[in-house]
Amino acid sequence: MITWMEICNNSIQICEKVYKPREDTIFLIDTIVGLPNFEELQKNGWIEVGSGTGAIICCLQRQGELCLAVDRNYHAAKLTGQNAKMNKKTVQTVAGDGLTPFRRKTLPANVVFNPPYLPEDPEADKGLSHEEKIALIGGKKGDEETWRVLHQMDTYQTAFVIISSLATTPNEMQARGRGKFKVETVGKLQLGLETLWVVQVKTLTEEWRGFHP
Ligand SMILES: C[S@@+](CC[C@H](N)C(=O)[O-])C[C@H]1O[C@@H](n2cnc3c(N)ncnc32)[C@H](O)[C@@H]1O
Repeated sequence: MITWMEICNNSIQICEKVYKPREDTIFLIDTIVGLPNFEELQKNGWIEVGSGTGAIICCLQRQGELCLAVDRNYHAAKLTGQNAKMNKKTVQTVAGDGLTPFRRKTLPANVVFNPPYLPEDPEADKGLSHEEKIALIGGKKGDEETWRVLHQMDTYQTAFVIISSLATTPNEMQARGRGKFKVETVGKLQLGLETLWVVQVKTLTEEWRGFHP
C-alpha cells in the first residue's frame, strides 16, 4: 500500500524500509528555514546526508539551488529520488556512505544531517530491521555516526545536525570539537524527557578521513 504525507507543500511517499518523517524531521526543516540567514545560505546549495524519504531536501530545494542527497539505505536513496521528481525538485541522489561518494571541493557548502542518534541497546535492538538500525542507532554512545560524518566535511562547509540528550549535549560537542570544530546551537525541542538540538557545525581544519579523492 502506498502512503503519503504532506510536508511543507510537498507530497512525500513513505515506505516500510525507509525512516518515516517524524518530529525530528520537521524540527530540522523548521529550524533551518527559520534561520535569519536562510536566504543567504540557500545560495550555496545543500547536501543532505541520510535523506530517508527526501522530505527535508524537498523542502530546502526552492529555486534551482544545487541540491544533493545521499543515504546508505538503497531504498531511501531511491525513494528520495522519486519524491523529488514527484514534487518537481532537482535533487541528485546517491546511495552511499556520508560524504565519501563525492569528490572534494565539488559539494554544496551546506550539509544537513538528521543522523541515527540513539545509543545502542543490545536487547531492544534485536527487534529492529537492518534499515531501522542504520536509521536510529548512532553507535554505543549514540553520537559516533554523527562525528564520523562531520570528520568528512571540508572547511568551506557548514553542517546543520540534530543531536539528542540521550547521546550528547551541545556543550559536550563544543568541548570535544575544540580546535577542530565550531559548534553553535540554533534550535531546541523538548520531547518528554529527551531534548533534541539542532547544532550548526563548522570545521576549522581539513579532515579527510574516509575520503578517497
Ligand atoms: C533518522 S533517519 C533521517 C531520515 C530523514 N532525513 C528524515 O529526517 O526523515 C537517518 C537516515 O540516515 C541514513 N544514514 C545513516 N548513516 C548514514 C551514513 N553514514 N551515510 C548516509 N546515510 C546514512 C539512514 O539510512 C536513514 O535514512
